[in-house]
Amino acid sequence: MEGRHFREIVKRLSNSIAIDGLEKLPSSYELVGDIMLLQIPDDLKPYKRLIAETYMDVIGVGGVMEKERISGELREPGHRLLAGERTVTLHKENGINYSIDLSRLMFSSGNINERIRMSKVKNIGPVVDMFAGIGYFSLPIAKYSRSSVVALEKNPISFQYLEENIRLNNLSDLITAENMDCRDYEGTGVKRIVMGYVRSTEKYLDKAMDIAGDGCIVHYHQTVPSDRHVEEMTRDVTEAARRGSVGVDILDIRQVKKYSPGIIHAVCDFEIKRY
Ligand SMILES: C[S@@+](CC[C@H](N)C(=O)[O-])C[C@H]1O[C@@H](n2cnc3c(N)ncnc32)[C@H](O)[C@@H]1O
Repeated sequence: MEGRHFREIVKRLSNSIAIDGLEKLPSSYELVGDIMLLQIPDDLKPYKRLIAETYMDVIGVGGVMEKERISGELREPGHRLLAGERTVTLHKENGINYSIDLSRLMFSSGNINERIRMSKVKNIGPVVDMFAGIGYFSLPIAKYSRSSVVALEKNPISFQYLEENIRLNNLSDLITAENMDCRDYEGTGVKRIVMGYVRSTEKYLDKAMDIAGDGCIVHYHQTVPSDRHVEEMTRDVTEAARRGSVGVDILDIRQVKKYSPGIIHAVCDFEIKRY
């Protein structure tokens, strides 16, 4: 946050909050579209609406939400609106428009470099995005590689925004969206697979092995201990390859972002070999 904004916020709140509270005011925030996601320390919770209205006014955003944990298989956030009147926003990034309702769906700002990396892959053939969400990866892949993408999404609310985002970005000729569990997908011979999900992604590797064609590149995301991420991801992939009777070449394993103490979100790119 710009220093002058923070100083103005502190000044305006100094009539209502004691000095030790002012010292705990958040000096950074996440912005998705025109909505600010703010983490409010426990001590300041009694003032959270006043704080939110002050941040909204000084920084000039469309709304402020309290940032809460994302939970469950379908990654539903607990963010609550504190100031402003709407939770739907339009986030623009890398030439893509993402419409999203932040009270019901997650947006991971920390994955930006991975979304940009996916927008640069070339000559990639038919792609399956197994956890499409609102189109985080499907939209940049289709827009910049001009490849066809099958975008699978289980959560009906995410699926509604995925369909809207495909239309908004004029990608209806390239992306086919299906509201389904990716484990029920029955295609074969896929040339690229995106597994943009964390915490339990290893459970879905068998499906990826089944649908992949020879030479298919898979982007396998996972949350792993930072000091053992290469070993753990390599083990998951080679065990799934053995079960699926395919060969694999690990191409790269890289950090996407820090996830929690000692844990990183990483992505392993690997190639399938069918003999
Ligand atoms: C929210 S995304 C993960 C974050 C995303 N990669 C990013 O860059 O921000 C994961 C999506 O996978 C969906 N999902 C979870 N299990 C699924 C399954 N078995 N089949 C299809 N989609 C699933 C969730 O509903 C969610 O929308």
